[in-house]
Amino acid sequence: MTADGGTAYGGVRRAEDLPGQDFWDVLYTRRSVRKFKRDPVPRELLEKVTDAAAIAPTSCNLQMWDFVVVDDEAILVEIGKLSIQVLTAPVCIFVSYGREFSEDSYANVQSASAAIQNMSLAAHALGLGTFWITQLGDREVVREMLGVPPDRELYAGLAIGWPEVLPKKAPTRRPKDHVFHWNHYAGRHIPSSPRPDDWTLADVAIYHRARVLNGNRYNKPRPWEQEAVLDALETLLGAERSGAWLEFMPFSGVLTMAIRARFTGAVLSVCDLTEGTAGFAKKRASKEGGLYLWPDELELDGTRGEGDQLPEGAFDTATCLFRLEALPREHRAPALAALQRALAPGGKLVLGFCNRRSYNTLMERARRGRLGGVEYVLAPEPHLGPFESLTVGAVEELVRDAGFRISGRSSVHALPGPTESAFRARNLHGPLALAGKLASGLSRVANSLPGVPALLGRLQFLCLEKPS
Ligand SMILES: Cc1cc2nc3c(=O)[nH]c(=O)nc-3n(C[C@H](O)[C@H](O)[C@H](O)COP(=O)(O)O)c2cc1C
Repeated sequence: MTADGGTAYGGVRRAEDLPGQDFWDVLYTRRSVRKFKRDPVPRELLEKVTDAAAIAPTSCNLQMWDFVVVDDEAILVEIGKLSIQVLTAPVCIFVSYGREFSEDSYANVQSASAAIQNMSLAAHALGLGTFWITQLGDREVVREMLGVPPDRELYAGLAIGWPEVLPKKAPTRRPKDHVFHWNHYAGRHIPSSPRPDDWTLADVAIYHRARVLNGNRYNKPRPWEQEAVLDALETLLGAERSGAWLEFMPFSGVLTMAIRARFTGAVLSVCDLTEGTAGFAKKRASKEGGLYLWPDELELDGTRGEGDQLPEGAFDTATCLFRLEALPREHRAPALAALQRALAPGGKLVLGFCNRRSYNTLMERARRGRLGGVEYVLAPEPHLGPFESLTVGAVEELVRDAGFRISGRSSVHALPGPTESAFRARNLHGPLALAGKLASGLSRVANSLPGVPALLGRLQFLCLEKPS
């Protein structure tokens, strides 16, 4: 893009023409910036940033990439209709790479990524901020809007601008000794299978622990899902429920926080698989509440970690929300038995689970071609780890075997409600968008028909009582 007469660098500036910067300083202080000033970024600076992309490595040095630098607000506004994130900054550099170059896009993605990271660092060295955007809405539509040829695949956008707010500190990284190994992998293998049965309980625990050690970075539950959980708890337990309350496997503690805010008279304790996860959620529970680990014998890295054993008969209420689905099958009955023991006689457990006979199943099949998955499976709290929706019959059998009496039920979302439909249809066009609107209308009817939510509701809640 610039001509400095250099041949080997194809017109890219030479390093000696650029301001000196301490490499390590640039490397360590780069952050994803998500709030930018609207001030324009001079093209001269953007040229320096794109130079950094041009000198990045590519597989076989084929350089089958094309970049489109968009600094025209009108174009960003158009693309922003598909992906709101591109509107955050005054410039976005879209990165594409030859589609057919490598099997399964293996080398394509890596080559494109090398360029993106080079640009992020160069921009930071110039005092600019960036963030990497993969969520481009319909990437094929964006590619067409930008006029990028069909044999190129659009991988990402890099938003660039003058930072308005600089993140004060870096998001936490996983402890280095969990991630790096000398000469041979020395950690524990965590499967990526969507089937909980392919995971041991220790695998699930390690995976969860790794996720919370990353900091508070998980998909937030959708507001309509969180509301559904809180409404079900109010219906089944009464709005004034108070006393000792155990949150079982709260993981990120998002729902724990919501429960604490809604049921102000309750003292919330947490019980999870590891000290790492329980400690993370405990910060979101009640100060006076306890921190417990389950099961007693689960050890990671040769230690059980700090946390008490679940006490017997200590809780008036327990909640286990969308967690049975993530446990290997053989641990579901022991989990319910542990909860039974922890409850006081007459105490209540609200068990939330995702119904296999619901539109969730259809959606998952349509989206992934199969049922279940690791991460991003929609449920009131996103499941991080394996996930398997359950049938009402199977759950009823489990809870009866554990000695519970079913004292109440609540089921919702036989079809996605209006907010959810609008959310899901946000990137759809034409007939599909119309189908989304129709589903939204139908949902009002379906959700109010007697018996339908109980049969087909995606979110099922059982209120279980420990006999006195
Ligand atoms: C492949 C990739 C995709 C990303 N996609 C997004 C995105 O769509 N939206 C966003 O806000 N951040 C995105 N990020 C930024 C990450 O959230 C960010 O790098 C991470 O939280 C670490 O923070 P740091 O960049 O400040 O060190 C992405 C990063 C990478 C590497």
